[in-house]
Order: sequence, then structure tokens, then C-alpha cells
Amino acid sequence: MSESDRAIGRSPAPDDTIAFLRSGYLYGTRRFRDLATDAYDARLGGIGGVVMYGRDAASVFYGGDRFSRERAIPTSVQHLLQDEGSVQTLEGPAHEHRKSMFMRMLDEPNVDRLVDEFDREWAKVRAEHAGQTVPLYDVGNLVLTRTALAWAGVPAGTVDDRELAGRLAAMVDAASAVGPVNWIARARRRRAEAWAAHLIADVRAGHIETASHTAIRTIADAGDHHDAPLPEEVAAVEVLNLLRPIVAISRFLVFAVHAMHTHPAWRARLDDDPEAAGRFANEVRRFYPFFPVISGTVRRSFEWRERRFEPGDRAILDLYATNHDRRIWEEPRRFLPERFEAWDGDPNTLVPQGGGAAATGHRCPGEAATIALTARFARLAASRPFEVPEQDLRISLRHIPALPMDRMRIAMRK
Ligand code: HEM
Repeated sequence: MSESDRAIGRSPAPDDTIAFLRSGYLYGTRRFRDLATDAYDARLGGIGGVVMYGRDAASVFYGGDRFSRERAIPTSVQHLLQDEGSVQTLEGPAHEHRKSMFMRMLDEPNVDRLVDEFDREWAKVRAEHAGQTVPLYDVGNLVLTRTALAWAGVPAGTVDDRELAGRLAAMVDAASAVGPVNWIARARRRRAEAWAAHLIADVRAGHIETASHTAIRTIADAGDHHDAPLPEEVAAVEVLNLLRPIVAISRFLVFAVHAMHTHPAWRARLDDDPEAAGRFANEVRRFYPFFPVISGTVRRSFEWRERRFEPGDRAILDLYATNHDRRIWEEPRRFLPERFEAWDGDPNTLVPQGGGAAATGHRCPGEAATIALTARFARLAASRPFEVPEQDLRISLRHIPALPMDRMRIAMRK
């Protein structure tokens, strides 16, 4: 009997919160292996639900409008990563309408502009740090903050970009922390929200002039699905929903250099073949750990694996386990970008940014931007603008979100 023919199993522990904190990204993978199943019941954070992985599980999770993101993540995390009124908290026509705004802001011409801005900002930061050894993670946060601000149409000099870079990065870094670290990050988020609300008010009042194609203009002018203007605080939340994840791509820049350093043959290939950069970026997104899981609450009843799911039930899709599922990926623990030469593009197999369709479901609208920036940076890095000095390159899978121990230090050439 294959894993996917089995009925839903049950975790041996009364509550899996401690197991999740101990095992991090490998929590689900270990349980799936021990229980020889691809779905099991468990309690996490005091709430019961089905934890599942793989193509079949992702198709159920993302298909048929079955799940909302209500109670999908703990409140402490939600307040850092999303917020009340944001696109992720909406469903049905309200969600579709707001999502179309994100899809427009992140379409191909806008992604091309984003990559051009990145090129400019990277050249500046490279010159600023010539001859120095710096952590790529921190430099990446700054470059991407400046890129995002210029791209979105925020006039230069209206915000302290270093401070904002710190605030935006802290929202992602502290997302899985509880207690003081999380509270500090939440306070920093509130300050960033206040800044974004002022920005929207200034754009609306005409105090700040921005071109009609810019993201800030788009959000400031946006209405809801009944054509009412977005309340200022909701528009502010969506500004952060655009800027914060662009800055979060910094992790993939770090992982791209980690991959190139540990698989040096790829450096030459990236230099020779522009097409290879796209496959390399996809393998970075598949192989390295970022969002471990995504959780959803059932909206309408359905049946799966001899189980009736009722409204309010919870399910957790293990993204990391799906990206390393040997039923989908041959030799999943090896870094092999060439696997994407023959990939069929099934939307429920490569799921670092969610599955299903972005326009109609909750899949991330920023995937094309993430791939384009990671691929662009991989090509830049392949031309050796820096060396990777001796350092601790280990990445602990127990720490969410993960990074190499030394934040990937690079020695910038003069
Ligand atoms: C840095 C790499 C990124 C990762 C790993 C990532 C991951 C994710 C994941 C896992 C989701 C949740 C999917 C779900 O609820 O089913 C998501 C949603 C979202 N992402 Fe990303 N993302 C990234 C980059 C971006 C970028 C660059 C943007 C925009 C500039 C973006 C904007 C969003 C938004 C607005 C949502 C909510 C979509 C909705 O609920 O319909 N993300 N992302």
C-alpha cells in the first residue's frame, strides 16, 4: 500500500507543540516517516487538525476554495506577517478583488522594473562596501529595501532606509519567536505601519507625487470590491505586505550564494547560460528552508481519505516536506537545478510560496518577482564580485526562519 492510499493517522503525542519547536522544519517529515502516512491528526498550539504533505494534499488544500486563512497562523505571527484587513485575511469576491491589485502590481513589466532597480542599488552598495567583509543577509536587506522603495514610488529621502530595512527584516526574523522578541518586533511593525499610513495620506492629498504605474499610487487609489476607497490603515498594511516580502528575498540571495559555494560547478554554468539561472533559482526555493507550513480553516465541507472535513476544522500543509517529497522529487536532498529541465510545472509540487493558482487562491503573488531577483543575483554573484571567506556555513533546521550560522559573510572586491 502506498502512503497516499492510507487513512489519516494520529500523532502519538497528546500535543505536538514541543515536538514542532524541537524539530523545526523536520517536524512533519519525521512524523510522516514514523507513521508511514502522508496525513495525520495532531494538536499544535492547542488546536487540533490534520497535518499533511505531498501533491495530493496540496491539491486538496489549494483546490476548490475549501480553506480560508482564518486562525491559520497564531496571532503573534499574524501581527508580524499579515494583519487585519490584509489580502490574506479576505475570502471570496473581496479576496479576488484585492488579489487582482497585487497581481497587477507584480506583473511582468513591473517585475522587470524591479530587477532594474535592484541592479542599480546593488551596484551602489557594492561600491559602498568595496574591500569590506559584510554579512550578505544584512546587506541584502538594505539593497532590497532601497530597491522596493524606489520601485514602489516612495520618494528618496522621505524615510530612513536603514531603519526601515531593520524593521521589515525583524518582522520575518521574529515571526516564530514568542515573548519579548516577538513583542519588540510587533512594536517596530506598528511604527512601520504608522509611517505607511502617513505615506498613503500624503499620496492621496497630493503632497507626494508618484507616477500612475507605481505601487504606492495603485494602493492609494485602490477601492474594495464595492468600490469604496480602502481605509488608510488597510492601505498601510498592504504597503507593508508589498515591501516586507521583497526584503525577505534576502534569504534566498543568501541561500543562492550558499548553493554556489557548496556546488562550485554551478558558478561557471550560471556565467555561461542565462536560462540556467531560472532553474537554479527554483532549486534554491525548493531545497532551502523558508516557510515551513501553511495552515487553513475549512470553509465548506468535503471528503478526503475517508474523512469528512467540516467548516471550522483545521489542516496544516507541510510546505518543506512537500518540497522534499521523494514521490515528487528524485533524490530530494540533493541540490540539482537540472531537475527543472524536465519539470512538468504542476502547481502543487514546488510550493515554497504556496500551491494552486495565485490569481484565485492564496498562493503568493510575488513568485515571479522572487524568481527574477534570485536568478538575477545568482548571475551577478557568479561573476565573482565577492569572495566567500572561511565561516560557519551550517544551516540549522531547528531554527525558523533558517539562515546560515554566520549570515553568509562576503568579502567584497575592491
Ligand atoms: C521571499 C520569498 C517569499 C516567500 C517564501 C513567500 C511565501 C509565501 C507564502 C507561503 C504565502 C502563503 C500562501 C497561502 O496562504 O497559501 C505567501 C502569500 C503572500 N505573499 Fe509571499 N512569499 C515571498 C515573496 C513575496 C513577495 C516578493 C511578495 C510581494 C511583493 C509577496 C506577497 C505575498 C502576499 C500579498 C501574500 C498573501 C496572498 C493571499 O493571501 O492571497 N510574497 N507568500
